[in-house]
Amino acid sequence: MTRRAHCLVVCAACGTQLPVLSPRAQCACGGLLEALQCPRESGRTLRDRFERRRRLGDRTVAGSGVWRFRELLLPGRGPIVTHPEGNTSLYQRDAVAGYVGLEDLTLKHEGENPTGSFKDRGMTVATTQAVRAGAAAVACASTGNTSASMAAYAAQAGLPALVFVPAGKVAAGKLAQALAYGATTLLVRGDFDTCLRLVREASDALGVALLNSINPWRLEGQKTIVWEMLQQRGWDPPDWIVLPAGALGNTSAFGKALREAHGLGLIRRVPRVASIQARGANPFYRSFRTGFEKRYRVQADTVATAIRIGDPASHDRAVRTIRETRGLVAQVSDREILEAKAVVDGAGIGCEPASAAAVAGARQLVRQGVIRKRDSVVAVLTGHLLKDPEAVMTFHGRRGHLRNPPVEIEPRLADVERIIKRRSP
Ligand code: F0G
Repeated sequence: MTRRAHCLVVCAACGTQLPVLSPRAQCACGGLLEALQCPRESGRTLRDRFERRRRLGDRTVAGSGVWRFRELLLPGRGPIVTHPEGNTSLYQRDAVAGYVGLEDLTLKHEGENPTGSFKDRGMTVATTQAVRAGAAAVACASTGNTSASMAAYAAQAGLPALVFVPAGKVAAGKLAQALAYGATTLLVRGDFDTCLRLVREASDALGVALLNSINPWRLEGQKTIVWEMLQQRGWDPPDWIVLPAGALGNTSAFGKALREAHGLGLIRRVPRVASIQARGANPFYRSFRTGFEKRYRVQADTVATAIRIGDPASHDRAVRTIRETRGLVAQVSDREILEAKAVVDGAGIGCEPASAAAVAGARQLVRQGVIRKRDSVVAVLTGHLLKDPEAVMTFHGRRGHLRNPPVEIEPRLADVERIIKRRSP
């Protein structure tokens, strides 16, 4: 009897099937590739194993919160490039829940990954696949976090890394990481969408592995954000999962994670997914408003540079997520983003601006009565506060609501006392 392969890679556009160790990140027809998981074991067996690994702190892959789920990620044997990553915390804070207007709000902080964003979950899998497929170098276009993460994993794997980022539009922490980890960093005079077009061309021409989220293995890794969260909740799904949306890789990965978890019986009920865009970078929101009849491209601009994207590559698969989960897409202004960020930061948690879009979006949806006050909601904080120090300094450089400007003084006790008196309630 022949055993069924437990993972196939298929083009969503033309149906072409590729081997798992194909060096291609996209189909020759230009379509997006998808990894179809066909696990050989039952959901119950897998769930028990995932629990055991979590309890023991799995020694074989050093306790990674991604590779704990390895039967459902990348098939085959070989080296694994892991930092490790994942195992991020869930936070419940009254100050944030009160601000959003919910009784049960949980923040999953993906900024606690090794390079400070959720990208590490996808990058450990995509880099591992690239190494096994014999890649000589890796490349990506990025608004900053993908490049920081890819640079770190490439350094660990001993692969040259080539990064394309929009000149002048990448937050300082992220650019610093790409340089520090040794990636060849190209500051392209153009926006993220231009960078992506260029890296698609360049990776084909140079024979370099493309590690953007069009690469199906990135999404496989990012599924574990959802699985780990479900596991942390004893596989009791929340009513809603809210996340920021740019290139739509994560929205797509979340839908796939929920589809597979439900298919395996790991969860009985599928939470609704709410993808939140910045108003100045809202092509997916616009499309949602037409019932996904039309697809939009916009000239993007927002303070949340991570999601400053006008032409999201994973549009089609993200539509599937929203449809299958009875989800929705909302948009928030830069003002709402910065206010929500100040609340998350002020609660001692902290996140980068794009992450705060999830919190701002949840608040808006509660105010509109779409999310009910008693619903349980998990909002995903996608990146660390220190990614974007300029955003913090600009916000707190002025006086006003939620602002905390620094005070320069002479080195005199009297000055210290005067300031403290002024500030005490
Ligand atoms: N949040 C952060 C902090 C991000 O860096 C990104 C994407 C997103 C949310 C949106 O996720 O693109 O999957 O919809 N950053 C990419 C990058 C584009 O290059 O780092 P998405």
